[in-house]
Amino acid sequence: MNMKSFARPLQSSRCHALHGVVKVPGDKSMSHRALMLGLLARGETIISGLLEGEDVMNTAEAVNRLGGRVSFEGDGLWRVYGAPDGKLTEPDSVLDMGNSGTSARLLTGLIAGHDITATLTGDRSLTKRPMNRVMIPLGDMGAVFLARDSGKLPLTMRGSSRLKPLDYRMPVASAQVKSAILLAALGADGETVVIEETPTRDYTENMLGHFGVTLAQKTDQNGAVHIRIAGGQTLSGCAVDIPGDPSSAAFLVVAALLCKDAELRLSNVGMNPRRTGLYDTLLEMGADISYENRRTQAGEVVADIIVKGGNPLKGLDVPPARVPSMIDEFPILAVAASCANDTVRMTGLGELRVKESDRLACMAQGLAACGVRLEEETDSLVIHGTGKPPAGGAYIDTALDHRIAMSFLVLGCVTENPVAIDDSTPINTSFPGFVELMNDLGAQIEAAPPKKPDPDA
Ligand code: S3P
Repeated sequence: MNMKSFARPLQSSRCHALHGVVKVPGDKSMSHRALMLGLLARGETIISGLLEGEDVMNTAEAVNRLGGRVSFEGDGLWRVYGAPDGKLTEPDSVLDMGNSGTSARLLTGLIAGHDITATLTGDRSLTKRPMNRVMIPLGDMGAVFLARDSGKLPLTMRGSSRLKPLDYRMPVASAQVKSAILLAALGADGETVVIEETPTRDYTENMLGHFGVTLAQKTDQNGAVHIRIAGGQTLSGCAVDIPGDPSSAAFLVVAALLCKDAELRLSNVGMNPRRTGLYDTLLEMGADISYENRRTQAGEVVADIIVKGGNPLKGLDVPPARVPSMIDEFPILAVAASCANDTVRMTGLGELRVKESDRLACMAQGLAACGVRLEEETDSLVIHGTGKPPAGGAYIDTALDHRIAMSFLVLGCVTENPVAIDDSTPINTSFPGFVELMNDLGAQIEAAPPKKPDPDA
């Protein structure tokens, strides 16, 4: 029986204290990239700290189906044998990417530079998400796509090892789109240039360098980053050490901040400056967060995070330029904001509508049901904190979104009445063991009683 097809509702009740030392799971973005570059590379790639969540396992499965071989070596070590001569093999059936937008979008770029045909699909959430943003530039390079009218999965694509190079100014701030183009560019006849007006996470650039690819980056006088990469380069297998994911750490950090008696140490968390917007924002709100053992590990900044609870949180306006560096953290920031002692304004959030769920709508509806006063506009969310936690007592529709699920379980740790979520299974996509870990630290998360029928329905 496939247990994934059954929803698992949970509820979180107010807890008294959160204490402990935690190792958060490996960075999801880096894990996808390490597997995919390992597939393209000559020889073997050894990965430590890989996230063993469902999204990354879907990428691993695709790597196997495209001519590479992924094997678990034990003790957190994974080995990837690259495709023979760096050439992908045509998969013999559909590649199912489950819930993972990063897998689906980066794979289109990877496949685009090879003479193979592949069909990609995903779950109920992923098949609603826009793929045009990668299909259009990759199509301009010469890849051929057949997709549903609105540019959604499932799609079938034909790649080519003689793509045209592209000169592309990014219309949206998206690391997935940038990465898809950079991966395709390896199969192009000439130099591709990608220009990012608002820089997004740069793991693809950094990791390509680590695998021996030459790529030039320059920031112009307006702050836009120009990335140049020549086609036809060979990748060499290498060792990749993946730190903890700052987006996963964020749930524990906010849980501790909101709880009066809390102190957590999160060891070895990635602190890439293009990922740390939430931490800067929480510090500006008055949070007690400090870093120890800050060091550079395989080209990435990592640190231990020490967080103590109980400080009152101030209101603020989050600068829109900071959005890409905390794009996945707005749901949990919204939870922190609902307990702040003033208003938190978040603007420039249009991209949140096309994540695993419409995160703006899900957070606004869920928080309002918990008693939070807020305003939701097309691309903004304004939350009026009162200095004390909201009442809670709501049953949240998580819309197959792991970050909505974890955010509301964190909120339930401090509300007067428990907060329930309709389904906790999506948490396994990015943070396997989250509930057990939270309970070990002192949280009170357990199976939820059945949802009461809505009298107005
Ligand atoms: C990711 C990029 C972001 C982020 C996602 C992971 C990546 O998506 O939301 O969780 O690994 O490149 P966008 O590129 O759509 O902003």
